[in-house]
Amino acid sequence: MALEHLLTVDDLDRETIERIVARAGSFAEVSGRDIKKVPALRGRTVATLFYENSTRTSSSFELAAKRLSADVIPIKAGGSSVAKGESLEDTVRTLSAYGPEVIVLRAPWAGAGDMITRWTDAAVVNAGDGKREHPSQSLLDIYTLRRHFDSLEGKKIWIVGDILHSRVARSNARAFRTMGAHVTLCGPPTLLPPQMGEALGCEVTHDITGVDDADVIYTLRIQNERMNESFMPSLAEYVIGYQINSKRLGAKQLLMHPGPVNRGVELSADVVGAPNSLIEQQVESGLVVRMAILYELLAGGKRQMGETA
Ligand code: NCD
Repeated sequence: MALEHLLTVDDLDRETIERIVARAGSFAEVSGRDIKKVPALRGRTVATLFYENSTRTSSSFELAAKRLSADVIPIKAGGSSVAKGESLEDTVRTLSAYGPEVIVLRAPWAGAGDMITRWTDAAVVNAGDGKREHPSQSLLDIYTLRRHFDSLEGKKIWIVGDILHSRVARSNARAFRTMGAHVTLCGPPTLLPPQMGEALGCEVTHDITGVDDADVIYTLRIQNERMNESFMPSLAEYVIGYQINSKRLGAKQLLMHPGPVNRGVELSADVVGAPNSLIEQQVESGLVVRMAILYELLAGGKRQMGETA
């Protein structure tokens, strides 16, 4: 079934994920060309609306739209009327006057993407809503892993770190399970309450020693902006208990991190660029996977190419 919006990983069944991953693979060929553009979305408009800081997600969505020949309206809260206090509704309605076919939204409010579908005819992509979801990250991570494994069926993936504040953990745990992986969540008790395991259908452990059994170690940033000191006695203690470093990372294990990395905290500096680190590949995948997401939203379902949204 073609996607109408990409708001949560619940919108993604295995077949849809497979289709997006396969299309991203075909767009990877475009990235290798001299002229890196295809006309697929010529005449279409994509607005990106970012109320939270972002480097990778905002730049890759913008570039993805441009590589598909769409027109792009990039809006960052800092440089727009949003900074003057314009409400989300007014901003979305104003943007919608330009008739964008897609709005990519990052906001600190859980459910913001779902909410704006009421105020626009555009397809909405949730590019991160508070601590809740980040489905395009899940797709690019699955694409990245599929370059190394034919299938994720039965693969053991450990997600390690600040699970409580992480939208990536919430989306990825479920998306990896949809692809057949066995997911374990690991972190200090204050950053990993037991009910999160039940909610996400994953095993929970506070003991890092079992991580050597994992095929993939997916590390998370310590989200200082979303916590106060009561969550962690000290960074030094976190490092001793949970940092992934060359002692904890086996040569055959794959290492991932959504970025930005706090070097020396969740990862030691030497493992970031290790041969089995996929961190740079994740960034590369972000571009082609976001091209595939935009294509998926505009090429199928309600917004077929050639029709107006
Ligand atoms: C993540 C995010 O913003 O949710 N980063 C990203 O999109 N690449 C994770 C993070 O900020 O730690």
